[in-house]
Amino acid sequence: MSTSEIRAVAVLGAGTMGHGIAQVCAQSGLQVRLGDVSQAQLDAALGKVRASVEKLAAKGKISEAPDAVLARVQATTSLGHAIEGADLVIEAVPEKIDLKLSLFREASTKAPPTAIFATNTSSLSVTEIAADTGRPDRVVGLHFFNPVPVMELLEIVRGLTTSDETVEASLAFARRLGKDPIVVRDWPGFATSRLGIILGCEAIRMVEQGVASPADIDKAMKLGYRHPMGPLELTDLVGLDVRLHIMEHLHAELGEQFRPPALLRQMVRAGKLGRKSGEGFYRY
Ligand code: CAA
Repeated sequence: MSTSEIRAVAVLGAGTMGHGIAQVCAQSGLQVRLGDVSQAQLDAALGKVRASVEKLAAKGKISEAPDAVLARVQATTSLGHAIEGADLVIEAVPEKIDLKLSLFREASTKAPPTAIFATNTSSLSVTEIAADTGRPDRVVGLHFFNPVPVMELLEIVRGLTTSDETVEASLAFARRLGKDPIVVRDWPGFATSRLGIILGCEAIRMVEQGVASPADIDKAMKLGYRHPMGPLELTDLVGLDVRLHIMEHLHAELGEQFRPPALLRQMVRAGKLGRKSGEGFYRY
């Protein structure tokens, strides 16, 4: 499928990443169905998309009226309705392999046979996800970054079975969204998470060891290395639970350097998940 044929996109999962992906697709003129099992999550997602689109319109960064962009996003709790007629299905559900496998297994029985399936996984195997979809050549990783409307990168992950046509369509899709893509081989953590997670992991270990306060560790990287955000602020933005899941996977696949710090586990158990729960390494 060529990108000119991608007109309708289904985004499965209306969390932080899902609603951002739905937004950038709608902003570039695509029809989007945003699917989630929770109506409350969908309502919250649409509210966030509206707020973000209004912010961009007020700054003149998009030329259309916010309502025109919003009109291209339909929310639904039905998986069948979300993917009916979709040319591209992008999954953005939590970082659990069983969840992603079962979602795509079900989607493969309902989506058009020509549809491309994309996973927004940060670290899991695209090749494994592709294996049971009945279309392994048309499965690819499309790894977006938070906040999706602002971050320029789209990391395209080529699984063992991903075809050249699917990679070409993904590259063209990325450019249509205004993103600057890279293509990487399917290897745990790809090019981004492998490096980003190791920094976050070490920063949490340094908090455990009392090396410095979270604010000073973040300041060290912002002022000393010109990172836009410190690794602990970034962990709060991404979600401590999300980062824990990625670390667990990379620990199993790549070794000890990714062993999740005990402090991170404790904080997740205490419900301190970062910005989304009101507290992580900082209070919001
Ligand atoms: N929608 C629209 N605009 C938004 C926005 C959103 N959701 N979020 C931020 N912005 C805009 C702001 O309005 C602001 O616009 P102007 O410059 O026109 O005023 C601009 O983005 C910058 O925002 P702020 O001024 O509020 O703050 P900032 O300059 O500190 O930037 C940031 C915020 C863009 C988040 C920046 O701190 C940053 O780049 N941080 C690092 C983010 C990062 O590393 N993300 C990757 C996380 S890892 C991941 O997502 C993948 C994974 O696998 C989990």
